[in-house]
Amino acid sequence: MNVFGQNVLKLKSDTTKIKISKEIYGHFSEHLGTCIYEGIYVGEDSEIPNIKGYRKDVVEAIKELKVPVLRWPGGCFADTYHWKDGIGPKENRPSIVNVFWGGVTEDNSFGTHEFLDFCELVGIEPYLSINVGTGTVKEAVEWVEYVTSSNKSPMTDLRKKNGRDKPWNVKFWGIGNENWGCGGEMAPDYYANLYRNYSAYIKGEDFQKVICGPSGDDTQWTETILKGLDGKNHLAQGMSMHYYTLPTNDWEGSKGSSIDFGEEMWFSTIFNTMKIEDIIKEHLTVMDKYDPRGDIKLIVDEWGTWYDKLPGTKEGFLQQQNTVRDALVAGINLNIFNNYADRISMANIAQIVNVLQSVILTKESEMVKTPTYHVFKMYNVHQDANLVPISLETEGYIYKDKSIPALTASASEKEGITSITITNANPNKALEIDCVFGANSKLLGSKIVTGEEITDYNDFGKNEKVTTSEFSVGNIKKGILKLEIPAHSVVLIQLQEK
Ligand code: AHR
Repeated sequence: MNVFGQNVLKLKSDTTKIKISKEIYGHFSEHLGTCIYEGIYVGEDSEIPNIKGYRKDVVEAIKELKVPVLRWPGGCFADTYHWKDGIGPKENRPSIVNVFWGGVTEDNSFGTHEFLDFCELVGIEPYLSINVGTGTVKEAVEWVEYVTSSNKSPMTDLRKKNGRDKPWNVKFWGIGNENWGCGGEMAPDYYANLYRNYSAYIKGEDFQKVICGPSGDDTQWTETILKGLDGKNHLAQGMSMHYYTLPTNDWEGSKGSSIDFGEEMWFSTIFNTMKIEDIIKEHLTVMDKYDPRGDIKLIVDEWGTWYDKLPGTKEGFLQQQNTVRDALVAGINLNIFNNYADRISMANIAQIVNVLQSVILTKESEMVKTPTYHVFKMYNVHQDANLVPISLETEGYIYKDKSIPALTASASEKEGITSITITNANPNKALEIDCVFGANSKLLGSKIVTGEEITDYNDFGKNEKVTTSEFSVGNIKKGILKLEIPAHSVVLIQLQEK
């Protein structure tokens, strides 16, 4: 951090051509609260406009967002889910009690076909989470065969009988979820062996098999699992990691309100968000030890804010609002993930609709796009672009006795256009910054996501308070753009060489 309060961003000329994998802009959809039922799927008989049971407004919003990959069916739910209960005629499907999330009974009307057809409809790559906690290797192998095989077999015959001739294209497979906790309370060496067993039989072209990795900074889990591979690194292409931002850091007590907060909670939310960078570094250090070639990528397949549930909403449904603060959390995390694009191949915000830090909220027939939606849409320019390394000198944002970097940034280049995204976490002060670009750089445009107040959010039936607007910046003079980044905002600047 720069003690003199001067903010400078420089683009480094670097030819490493590290691609920011588009999957870093991925999402997560679990059978939890109203994410699947009511959020994505209302059924064909619903009065809410739908396409084959999928909400039309949600389909359109997701298409517009260019969501690259979607994880399903959980989460904790995944290790209780038996895929055969969710295929075939709906009236014959057994129900399932969602033991982790509200204890509600679900009718299994949204199963493998409904999820994979949804992904095809909206143009998303599916990422399936295999049940290790209460499942078997046989059940997993049969699922893989049912979904991806073009051979004649009992599973493909069953798929055809259920109306789908050709296989779906699924290459991302998570082997278990949080198996240190809700996924079976397993000891790390036990899970490591189980992983090897599952992975040995889960086979397919270009499959990306993902180890259930640590929660937060638990490097002991990472260490034991990777050591347990005992050099059989070909069994894994990715290792997951989960990290949630809680303003209070208190899993047992109050996590803080999603809408009713002041600067103290704003600061602690940003502070806790930024911790993810050190945690990523710690896991990468362990990964380097067991996988020096870096073949196993880090996949942050659950991240985002976790607040107290909104008053009046159901226990276990994890419903929260989404304010300017969440826009900042999204922008900061995505900048960090971009900057580690050589090692992070995917990230999935939790969760896409109606749960935790959602990009979309629904209420009966209404839908809103949250501030987080607008940040993701603005950052889409980074998807599959080449990372441009930067150096950033930033002043601190000081609150009481603590200080964090006020600004974060990342940059990429695609088809001759350089895109730079910058966040200003200071809620009270616009910050001047010198952006040092090439002498031949021409400004193409700039955008901003912010609201008047840090607590602003988009509500049902009202005009959007937090949205994307054009952001007017001055001119580049002698290769330097002097900018003022407004308080509590997320900004995109785009350039081209003249
Ligand atoms: O996203 C909500 C829950 O958080 C997931 O089910 C679980 O994996 C994590 O603890």
